[in-house]
Amino acid sequence: MDLLEKLRRKQARIVVIGLGYVGLPLAVEKARAGFHVVGIDSNPDRVEMVNEGCNYIGDVVSEDLATVVSDGRLRATSSFEPVAEADVVTICVPTPLDRHKQPDTSYIERVVEASLPHLHAGQLVVLESTTYPGTTEEVIRPRIESLGLKVGEDIFLAFSPERVDPGNARYRTRNTPKVIGGVTPQCTEIAKALYESILEGDVCVVSSPRAAEMTKLLENVFRIVNISLVNELSLLCERMGIDIWEVIDAAKTKPFGYMPFYPGPGLGGHCIPLDPFYLSWKAKEYGFSTRFIELAGQINDGMPEHVVERTMELLNDRGIALRGASILLVGVAYKKDIDDLRESPAVKIGDLLLQRGALLSYHDPNIPGARMGTHELRSIPLHPDALAAADLVLITTGHSDVDYEAVVRHAQQVFDTRNATQGIQSPKIVRLGSGTK
Ligand SMILES: NC(=O)c1ccc[n+]([C@@H]2O[C@H](COP(=O)([O-])OP(=O)(O)OC[C@H]3O[C@@H](n4cnc5c(N)ncnc54)[C@H](O)[C@@H]3O)[C@@H](O)[C@H]2O)c1
Repeated sequence: MDLLEKLRRKQARIVVIGLGYVGLPLAVEKARAGFHVVGIDSNPDRVEMVNEGCNYIGDVVSEDLATVVSDGRLRATSSFEPVAEADVVTICVPTPLDRHKQPDTSYIERVVEASLPHLHAGQLVVLESTTYPGTTEEVIRPRIESLGLKVGEDIFLAFSPERVDPGNARYRTRNTPKVIGGVTPQCTEIAKALYESILEGDVCVVSSPRAAEMTKLLENVFRIVNISLVNELSLLCERMGIDIWEVIDAAKTKPFGYMPFYPGPGLGGHCIPLDPFYLSWKAKEYGFSTRFIELAGQINDGMPEHVVERTMELLNDRGIALRGASILLVGVAYKKDIDDLRESPAVKIGDLLLQRGALLSYHDPNIPGARMGTHELRSIPLHPDALAAADLVLITTGHSDVDYEAVVRHAQQVFDTRNATQGIQSPKIVRLGSGTK
């Protein structure tokens, strides 16, 4: 039976490499669709948890994971040997930036190298990690072809970006449309058959892996640029004594040609602060400077420092020095209702406050412990006494599970960088982007 037929009959065996925020939901969806899936991860704790049916990713429905594991449709391992038995191999490993803000594709390279001894004719390999246009054909294809296999004839290769939006209750892996670009039309056809047999969302085909890689980056560049635009306007609004939140609410009543983006204390997560710089780096190869991305990076990178300066001013107005002041951060995850601390601006702000001598504590219902600078902190309960004892409560992420009425009632002063206190009237509240100067 050929691979297309196996996919249509859900008899293909699938390997997912990297069982993180992207890979675990995908592995579960593939298993739920009826495929036999093996997840490969170098982290033995994650392997053990999957094999015990224990969920560790917020967007995965725990019962779904437990069911596919107990039904024998999903198992995990740290060995790459299951690649030999697989019909489909999907790669979902990290793509960080190095210290010089240059793409670090070493995770992709390492897992491809580890798979090579097991790859053979008749398989489909799909890269899902976010990366610069050209990675699939420049980094993966030559390695596969070094085995003597011709991509598009013997073995099939495609890129399909992952669009998961952690914490989004409406759009999950299952119902989010998927973009696919294969190296050849046959690669695309097989990859399309894979995703159509798993997901409910539409499948959008583009002409090449490079076009699919660029599509993902366009989506993320669009976000970083628009967030930086509204962050810049929020700084101006502070000076002009205009409330940016009111302005955005008014602007979004326009039913066409406008989409709201909101200011905040800085960018966080594994995607928006990093991915656009993959494109900047690649653009240099073409003698091209991606000025929008660079400018957006500068504006967004300055936001944590701005929040700290504003905190200092607010305390100063009350005759309190930041050195020795007690600051309670509320919400430290990088965005609302998730448990992910990666690149979180709250951590940068916490570090800056500690460097300036503040006495720091934090509360986050989803993050039990966090390292800020050289300090290891534990989330404290949001008790009225703790709120009242803080010289200033700084809301760095607005979670649904926090009672902001109570925060405002008990706090001495609240600096809200997320408009989490929207609708609450109190002279104690100062909002980012709503000026008092
Ligand atoms: N998290 C998101 O919201 C999101 C959204 C869209 C795209 N992406 C992209 O998806 C990719 C993966 O991101 P993520 O958030 O799932 O990362 P993650 O860190 O949550 O998961 C990656 C997993 O890969 C494993 N891993 C690392 N090296 C390995 C190796 N050599 N062999 C086997 N396993 C290995 C890690 O142990 C980890 O479990 C990145 O390129 C990211 O940019 C992420």
